[in-house]
Amino acid sequence: MTVLRATARPTLAVVGATGAVGTVMLQILSQRADVWGEIRLIASPRSAGRKLAVRGELVEVAALTEEAFDGVDVAMFDVPDEVAERWAPIAAARGAVVVDNSGAFRMDPEVPLVVPEVNPHAVRARPRGIVSNPNCTTLSMIVALGALHAEFGLRELVVSSYQAVSGAGRAGVEALRQQLSLVAGTELGTSPGDVRRAVGDLRGPFPEPVALNVVPWAGSLREDGWSSEEMKVRDESRKILGLPKLPVAVTCVRVPVVTVHSLTVHARFQDEVTVDRAREILATAPGVVLCDNPAAGEFPTPADVVGTDPTWVGRVRRALDDPTALELFVCGDNLRKGAALNTVQIAELVAAEPS
Ligand SMILES: NC(=O)c1ccc[n+]([C@@H]2O[C@H](COP(=O)([O-])OP(=O)(O)OC[C@H]3O[C@@H](n4cnc5c(N)ncnc54)[C@H](OP(=O)(O)O)[C@@H]3O)[C@@H](O)[C@H]2O)c1
Repeated sequence: MTVLRATARPTLAVVGATGAVGTVMLQILSQRADVWGEIRLIASPRSAGRKLAVRGELVEVAALTEEAFDGVDVAMFDVPDEVAERWAPIAAARGAVVVDNSGAFRMDPEVPLVVPEVNPHAVRARPRGIVSNPNCTTLSMIVALGALHAEFGLRELVVSSYQAVSGAGRAGVEALRQQLSLVAGTELGTSPGDVRRAVGDLRGPFPEPVALNVVPWAGSLREDGWSSEEMKVRDESRKILGLPKLPVAVTCVRVPVVTVHSLTVHARFQDEVTVDRAREILATAPGVVLCDNPAAGEFPTPADVVGTDPTWVGRVRRALDDPTALELFVCGDNLRKGAALNTVQIAELVAAEPS
């Protein structure tokens, strides 16, 4: 296991500092209690020399090289899978503890997959010197589910996601922005193909237009018609909760929201559950906000949740035909808790370890 060098304040590297997640990470580092000494910003050679603000100072971005990790204690990676796959082991070999946001190592049995509110103890068992951060869709629900599981014992999950375009990075946000400008002001949605014609080839990272639309697809094709995103939600939920055989059915859907993933969750537990107890648990769980008063029109929506840290839960109901199951509507900012914040929290756990 890689342990931190015995320095007073650890040196942190943010790899992918210029991306959608990296940008939010710099904001979060500027807002939280500062436990870091030097913060080094790293991206591709395209961005080398750019200056980005963190902790009220402008810091120059360095290109990703082996030497960039010299003296680094913790390196947070917010880069595409293939870049993390190649460079995270290099950073670890040079002595940094890597906290990786990509999908490259999440299911590696020698890499813990950590959500500080759910399984913080797992962070210490990191034989490769790498800790993984879960996928944003899993993270948008798992803090609330972890709290309910601790009391009721989870037995099955059925989940549908309503995923924001920023889950596909800067390219996803840009695609929705351009598509919205193309469809604005025209009469659309009245005949097949009119949205598609207006958007033309500007699909960005999505298989269909996402403006004025709902796309039942996220990620790449896996066996038997499942998407990679759906498999991630199943596999990662099992690993984080320590339930390797948990039945999980997932359908991932992209919606024209910039940031905040929403999910409907049907969670079945070991024994009967009551809504009152579930609400008590959710109201007091760290990192969860209960927002559930439909009579007053109160439930979480992405427009209210964006930019916030917690997992928001509303529409808490007992399943109509199963006293052991709950129905929930959950929202979480995919760039904050869904990516940057959880990574920063893991990095802080590492920084707090006795040297
Ligand atoms: N978006 C989300 O909601 C979300 C949530 C959880 C996890 N993630 C994961 O987090 C990672 C980053 O996602 P993102 O959405 O921030 O992507 P993004 O907006 O496309 O940003 C990618 C970042 O990686 C850098 N990069 C790309 N190729 C590189 C290379 N060859 N060498 C060094 N740096 C390179 C880019 O630098 P340049 O600017 O110099 O190109 C940029 O900083 C991905 O693995 C993604 O799956 C994303």
